[in-house]
Amino acid sequence: MRPMAPFIRDQWYVAAFGEELAAVPLGRTICGESIALFRRGDGAVAALQDRCSHRWYPLSLGRIVGDALQCGYHGARFDGAGRCVLIPGQESIPASFDIRSYPTHERDGVIFVWLGDAARADPTVIPDWRLNAAPDWATVRGIHRMPANYQLVLDNLLDLTHVAFVHKNLGGPGVTDNPLQFSTDGDTVHTFRMMRDVELPGLFKALGKSGRFDRWQKQTVRAPSYVYFEAGAEPVGSNNPPADPHHVVIQGVTPETETSTHYFWSVARHFAVEDEATSKAMRDISSDAFDEDVAVLAAQQRSIDSDGANRPLGAFVCDAAGTAVRRVLARKLAEENSRTPIVATDR
Ligand code: FES
Ligand SMILES: [Fe+2]
Repeated sequence: MRPMAPFIRDQWYVAAFGEELAAVPLGRTICGESIALFRRGDGAVAALQDRCSHRWYPLSLGRIVGDALQCGYHGARFDGAGRCVLIPGQESIPASFDIRSYPTHERDGVIFVWLGDAARADPTVIPDWRLNAAPDWATVRGIHRMPANYQLVLDNLLDLTHVAFVHKNLGGPGVTDNPLQFSTDGDTVHTFRMMRDVELPGLFKALGKSGRFDRWQKQTVRAPSYVYFEAGAEPVGSNNPPADPHHVVIQGVTPETETSTHYFWSVARHFAVEDEATSKAMRDISSDAFDEDVAVLAAQQRSIDSDGANRPLGAFVCDAAGTAVRRVLARKLAEENSRTPIVATDR
């Protein structure tokens, strides 16, 4: 199979939404690593390798006992730091039975996990999901599994001209015929597109806005794991510079395998915050749109996989922001590789 973008491990990835973790553990593959997530007795979240050190049974199939995770096969227990704290019928517990744990952090209803060097897991660089918990905002959220390498998912999010052709309720005039401005600031790529005097797409119409508007889209991208999208629409001529967003889509891009990606999304608004019908419309339209992306990305990944010659993909002018993101990824990967000690082979 054609080689896909390698994983970047020194990164806070969204592992789950907080509500996914309750009385039972959750198994999730992230960057090819099987991880068991669980909520300890005190409510704190822990993440362990999802493989018992005894006979390698998946720990996510076990159960939570107090602050420990109990293996579902022969009952060994592991605390949140991965220490083996109990082996049934055996007094001594060799440290060799300890397993790997991962740094985690729960904030604004989101559980983040750090896959790389634990010493570099700085909580001050956790991405911003504050609108999830902001009192005057309402959010709807969900998880889609994209059957494609995470770089194709990022390409998709950065080239929104696809919206006109893929999304029945998000498309609309203006996206393809207005240029995308973008800039790179360190590891962050910013994009902006202004569309003046255009009809609004179906999402806005479903929420009671119709007619001609000045419409804009803005993205803040911290590759590979975070895309913050803002969209606004104001009456023609009144939107310079853009006012507050109409809605925000916060997105966590978490590689699962080389050819699949967890896509965590939260759509936030600060109008009609108590209105369940508005929430339902936003949830349904967003979920349908991401289903449309799933279909496109699956077909694209299959097409790429079928090419044995490993030729490069094409790039239009509209791919420029995506290319800037790829440059950030290449730099981060090079930095990470330069930190990884080279292990001598035994020969
Ligand atoms: S496989 Fe886990 S205790 Fe035996
Ligand atoms: Fe899309």
